[in-house]
Amino acid sequence: MGDHVLGVAMNGVTGRMGYRQHLTRSILAIRQDGGVELPDGSRVIPEPVLVGRSAEKLRAIAERHGIERWSTDLDAVLSDDSVEVYFDAQITHAREAAVRAAIAAGKHVYVEKPTADSLSAALELAKLARDAGIRNGVVQDKLFLPGLLKLRRLVDSGFFGRILSIRGEFGYWVFEGDWQPAQRPSWNYRAEDGGGIVLDMFPHWHYILEQLFAPVRAVTARVATHIPERWDEGGRRYTATADDAAYAVFELEGGTVAQINSSWSVRVDRDELVEFQVDGTHGSAVAGLRSCRVQHRSVTPKAVWDPDAVDPGRYREQWDTVPDNTEFPNGFRAQWELFFKHLRADAPFPHDLLSGARGLQLAEAGLRSAQSGRTVELEEVALP
Ligand SMILES: NC(=O)c1ccc[n+]([C@@H]2O[C@H](COP(=O)([O-])OP(=O)(O)OC[C@H]3O[C@@H](n4cnc5c(N)ncnc54)[C@H](O)[C@@H]3O)[C@@H](O)[C@H]2O)c1
Repeated sequence: MGDHVLGVAMNGVTGRMGYRQHLTRSILAIRQDGGVELPDGSRVIPEPVLVGRSAEKLRAIAERHGIERWSTDLDAVLSDDSVEVYFDAQITHAREAAVRAAIAAGKHVYVEKPTADSLSAALELAKLARDAGIRNGVVQDKLFLPGLLKLRRLVDSGFFGRILSIRGEFGYWVFEGDWQPAQRPSWNYRAEDGGGIVLDMFPHWHYILEQLFAPVRAVTARVATHIPERWDEGGRRYTATADDAAYAVFELEGGTVAQINSSWSVRVDRDELVEFQVDGTHGSAVAGLRSCRVQHRSVTPKAVWDPDAVDPGRYREQWDTVPDNTEFPNGFRAQWELFFKHLRADAPFPHDLLSGARGLQLAEAGLRSAQSGRTVELEEVALP
């Protein structure tokens, strides 16, 4: 069987996600391992073409990793027939225009979340992709992480019985940037640049809830900008115009209630930076990025409320660890491999631009709820 060399234009590889997760840990790692094997035994070998604004930075990355092709001219790359896929990990604000150009050039597209900075733009991209007949996808990496794969196993096995509620806790302290450098880019804290924790995290909550449990039918949210002033990469003080915390209740089809806190202004007292507790009639689980612990109804201790006595219950010791039972590759890489199989061997790929648009719908509904103080119902999103 002949191997398929697949040209992949990669825009945004000088950024955190583009460089570390997508270029080095996914595309270059796949190349190093000889490509992705298809069911017929042939292999897809991705060949990156780096795209960006700074020739100097692109050249440095290309030299460091022995990559032959790079360019600051997106149009030229998009008119190159050897490039079949356009990938975008630019800042959110810059994504829509580039993805439009890629679809118009007939490329398949795969993009970071959120797919655009508004629902209307995200829907438009999904429609353009459908009308052009190209394959398309959005990064939904958390579904491919060990902790959530184990959680999926539990759901699929019927472990929970009827799922009653989900509580998610996400966050950590992001330094303001004055007395210690911030560990996230400054655009994350400026609404005018596509920043904000709702726009950043609600797309993740959307696909996790929808694909592991049930679609979200309503959201009630409160958002805050707890830290009103920050310092950017150049040490300049700026006003934070975007939300840095969101406290939300999501009502799922079928009645499960999910409550998720998202914050860049919180200190961590958890085992992992995100954790979800799922409670069902037959059992409960606590899943993070890597680990997953369970407690079945048959071993549930009888907790008794008595504030006058020292509580003998060692609650956190009463849970079992779900074993790995397999090796888990990097989640971003796993999703790239699936996308290549989708392109070349028709593997199912539910992570398309329409799913990405539903993530934007949830983010916009969350912000509307926060502005109005009301619960916002979610209509079915469909392409015209
Ligand atoms: N899947 C995930 O878990 C995850 C995590 C973090 C970020 N993201 C998404 O990835 C994208 C990139 O985020 P990041 O944290 O890597 O950001 P980053 O600031 O580290 O990188 C941004 C990239 O966009 C490029 N860019 C293009 N136009 C720009 C402009 N006008 N101003 C600044 N940079 C510009 C930069 O050169 C750089 O390559 C965002 O859309 C974000 O939502 C996804």
